[in-house]
Amino acid sequence: MNIALFASGTGSNAEVILQKLPTLLYGYNVEINLILTNNTDAGVLNIANQFGIPAQVILLKNLPNNEIEGNYLQLLQQYEIDFIVLAGYLKKIPAALTAAYPQKIVNIHPALLPAYGGAGMYGRHVHEAILAAGEKQSGITVHYVDEVYDHGQIIFQVSCQVDVNDTADTLAQKIQQLEHKHYSEVIAQIIVSQFPVK
Ligand code: GRF
Repeated sequence: MNIALFASGTGSNAEVILQKLPTLLYGYNVEINLILTNNTDAGVLNIANQFGIPAQVILLKNLPNNEIEGNYLQLLQQYEIDFIVLAGYLKKIPAALTAAYPQKIVNIHPALLPAYGGAGMYGRHVHEAILAAGEKQSGITVHYVDEVYDHGQIIFQVSCQVDVNDTADTLAQKIQQLEHKHYSEVIAQIIVSQFPVK
């Protein structure tokens, strides 16, 4: 089975997944064979290059919805993708994709959904909102992707403490550590349960 990784930015999660997943799924016929981004400057393109994974920049700007959906579907078909991992992908996944890949698209969110999710809640904005609200804890959520932002079924969550002297930067670091520790393992577990044949 083939996995596509979608990312818009630095791609630190994508990098850790590329490092860890082959070992976690050793013996399984699973390959990450596409990195897809919407951003020509995304750091994840260098990571794709380092790991020798084909990368594609998808054109989304100023296109009608049906053409955007067509662009995604065409690429996913071309690379025979069975499963999609979002790792910091900032564009909304079109309904045609969630319909074509039900329970086969996962995302990681840097907070404990359903709180602090939805449009505009990404990156620093999430951590700033958590600090402004005086929350005592935050965490990460891995969830299936449906047609509503940050809404699909929750698969995994783990929390961390928010300390009084935390800033958006220190909280971001704590969250990133949790993401790098857990996301690959959660993905591996989902894949083993959905595609059990070795
Ligand atoms: C992560 O915090 C993830 O939770 C969110 O986007 C960020 C991506 O970071 N969806 P990176 O590009 O993997 O470093």
